[in-house]
Amino acid sequence: QIQAVIFDLDGVITDTAEYHYLAWKQLADDLGIPMDRSFNEQLKGVGRKESLDKILEHGGKHLTEEEKEFYATKKNEHYKTFIQDITPDDLLPGILDFMKEIKEAGIQTALASASKNAKPVIKRLEVEQYLDTVVDAAQVTNGKPDPEIFIKGADQLSVDPAYCVGVEDAQAGVQAIKAAGMYAVGIGAEEALSQADWVVQQPSQLSLEELKRRLEM
Ligand code: BG6
Ligand code: MG
Repeated sequence: QIQAVIFDLDGVITDTAEYHYLAWKQLADDLGIPMDRSFNEQLKGVGRKESLDKILEHGGKHLTEEEKEFYATKKNEHYKTFIQDITPDDLLPGILDFMKEIKEAGIQTALASASKNAKPVIKRLEVEQYLDTVVDAAQVTNGKPDPEIFIKGADQLSVDPAYCVGVEDAQAGVQAIKAAGMYAVGIGAEEALSQADWVVQQPSQLSLEELKRRLEM
């Protein structure tokens, strides 16, 4: 039986995964490093600094720590211009209904986001009241695919990870959920999220009834 559902933010609750991609793409172009959506799958869910390292490695480029700091800040400045106008209209279709359904069933919810921008984003989306706890990048040592962020979410709700469901759009995120010993719901392409227990293309395809049915299988 499900006691908690732990949500990723970017690409699950709202389409900020697209903004992260566009901001990284711009940066990669500036650095002369080829980047496409297929490579971007490896960046989803991964922290800012680690993402930059992956892009640099991909392009065979070496930068000093100082230069990396400069580019990471530049990417974030670009990303922040995208998120400044976010409103509740930017919630992905169906996700709020799913969150409400869960809360109404007496199941707890948490947010587990690798983003340092998570708090302002959920505030602008006006979904704080549907989240019992929030774990963001500032509170964890090891980023996804390490399970720490999901374990911490479960801890903060006093729920055993075995009774938690994690919802993710990222390969690294699905790996983190599985490593935490939770049931993993993937949102996106089946090929990219093959490690998930259940994959839907869009949040509108989520329902508590179907989730329960699958957990009983
Ligand atoms: C994750 C995103 O939620 O947060 C990644 O999926 C992003 O794409 C990471 O790199 C870190 O975000 P931020 O806002 O701290 O740069
Ligand atoms: Mg995500």
